[in-house]
Amino acid sequence: MMKMRGTSLFMPAFVLCFLLLLAGCGAGHDAAATSGTEPESESMPDEDDIVIGISQVGSESDWRTTNTKAYINTFTQEKGYYLIFEDGQQKQENQVKAVRKFILKGVDYIVLAPIVETGWDAVLKEARDAGIPVIIVDRNVSVEDESLYTCRVGSDLMQEGRNAGEWLADYLESRGRRNKKINIVTLQGTLGSTAQIGRTSGFAEVMEKHPNWNMLEYQSGDFTQAKAYEVMEYFLEKYDDIDVVICENDNMAFGAIEAIKEAGLKLGKNGDIILISFDAVRDALLLVQKGEIMADFECNPIIGPLVEETLQKLERGEPVEKVQYIDETYFDYRMDIESLLEEREY
Ligand code: AHR
Repeated sequence: MMKMRGTSLFMPAFVLCFLLLLAGCGAGHDAAATSGTEPESESMPDEDDIVIGISQVGSESDWRTTNTKAYINTFTQEKGYYLIFEDGQQKQENQVKAVRKFILKGVDYIVLAPIVETGWDAVLKEARDAGIPVIIVDRNVSVEDESLYTCRVGSDLMQEGRNAGEWLADYLESRGRRNKKINIVTLQGTLGSTAQIGRTSGFAEVMEKHPNWNMLEYQSGDFTQAKAYEVMEYFLEKYDDIDVVICENDNMAFGAIEAIKEAGLKLGKNGDIILISFDAVRDALLLVQKGEIMADFECNPIIGPLVEETLQKLERGEPVEKVQYIDETYFDYRMDIESLLEEREY
């Protein structure tokens, strides 16, 4: 399909979208409309605007909220972008529908944050047939033909898992527990998502080198605080000898901490449980400062600028790297979190 910028192709689809919205079908036509922020105004793309359809996973975590805001702040109309934002509400079928809607509208680029890795082949083929480049962000897709998407921009989620494992090994060593039996439970993220697969398998890789580490159980908390609270309650009823709790994101750490405290257990260096988390959002870092989360492995949510850089390269016809990882770090209870927070955006 030949692609045109701005209103000409977009207009009828936009009107259709507006009618759908009036009919209560919830089609997002304004970057702010489904992002949890107030829409500033009804807008239309200018003729030269680069029209981008973003299919976001949902709003399951603090990380996700920051990530969404980062796209909205990056792809502004002042900079020549027109953003169509669709919240998938944690359902793959909503995301597939969103991508199809973007194809119908003839957007210039599709940015897809896939909830899980599999099940994208058909819709990505439709996007490719329509000549629309697809940038996969945050998590990854697992497809038979990798040319179905242009590139992926996001975190090295497996490396995050490895880093957490290495941190635990060093910490246990420093506490003279190198060869002691260590019982671990893991609160996994959404099963089948790259954030879950990567963190679980990265940590498991390190665990293989430590035969004294005993994974009691894995259970998914779906990256949400509420589910994690329930799962942690279940873990605590079932096991009375948990040494380490791995939470595959910060919101699950919040839920787990609540359940641990209610059970009368103590967290931290001189407590009963070592809790490790991923994301490093502000509220979690405050818990690192208190020593309740002992180490937090950053998942950088500010992906927007790197996506923009990639998209601008594509605009100029330049090649782009197939996989682009964003810089990440980690924080632990021994660091000066207060000063680090002063310089941190999120
Ligand atoms: O894919 C990134 C993960 O998804 C973040 O760790 C988590 O908070 C989010 O829900």
